Amino acid sequence: MSQLTTNDLKRFKNELTRFMMMYKFALDALETRIEILKEEFQLLHDYNPIEHTKYRLKSPESLLKKVYRKGCEFSFASVRTHIKDIAGLRVTCSFLSDIYRIQEMFEHQSDLKVLEIKDYIKNPKPNGYQSLHLLLEVPVYMSDRLEYVCVEVQVRTIAMDFWASLEHKIFYKYNQSVPEHLLAELKGAADSASALDRQMERLHLEIEEIKEKQSS
Ligand code: GTP
Ligand code: MG
Repeated sequence: MSQLTTNDLKRFKNELTRFMMMYKFALDALETRIEILKEEFQLLHDYNPIEHTKYRLKSPESLLKKVYRKGCEFSFASVRTHIKDIAGLRVTCSFLSDIYRIQEMFEHQSDLKVLEIKDYIKNPKPNGYQSLHLLLEVPVYMSDRLEYVCVEVQVRTIAMDFWASLEHKIFYKYNQSVPEHLLAELKGAADSASALDRQMERLHLEIEEIKEKQSS
């Protein structure tokens, strides 16, 4: 087997840095779009549908683990094709309807490509997990070419986010094999979170109607 030289390693390191930068730029571009939406929405409707956002790049370590788990070939091209969540954006909204507003906003931006939509709100996972997942391709102008870079976007309410964060912690605390009775409790908690979301949505609609009547 041929030995790797220092130059080979340097070249690989540079390529990896450039590869990860592409994903970072895609997140930066989405961040700007989200900021525009927030400010414009505030101005037009006097309220902001987004509670908070979280942008994250997969660490090289967890990327390697996933490549290994998925059994895909270790090349930049193959990683790019098979691993869709190297760049992740999580948008936490105030109300249920805001989630679909965010989806619409992305769908209406003609330079974005929506590759996939997984609606775990209309079809929750058996454990109770809810969120809207979108796979987007974001145009990124590199110095010498245009790249469409994949970003996984998770859109959810505060209640969904609260549930998912705690479920994630419990899952890892029990080393991914959670006792049966806790699974049932978690599912019950997801149902309560969902009922709360629907109640808050009703209140929100009622308040919006009152506001509209007052202004007309
Ligand atoms: P991966 O290959 O693991 O990314 O799965 P996938 O491509 O089938 O994607 P899926 O839509 O199922 O989930 C992607 C991401 O959503 C995960 O990395 C989590 O951040 C989140 N997620 C999905 N299911 C759950 C869940 O049951 N609990 C929690 N807390 N998060 C979840
Ligand atoms: Mg994932």
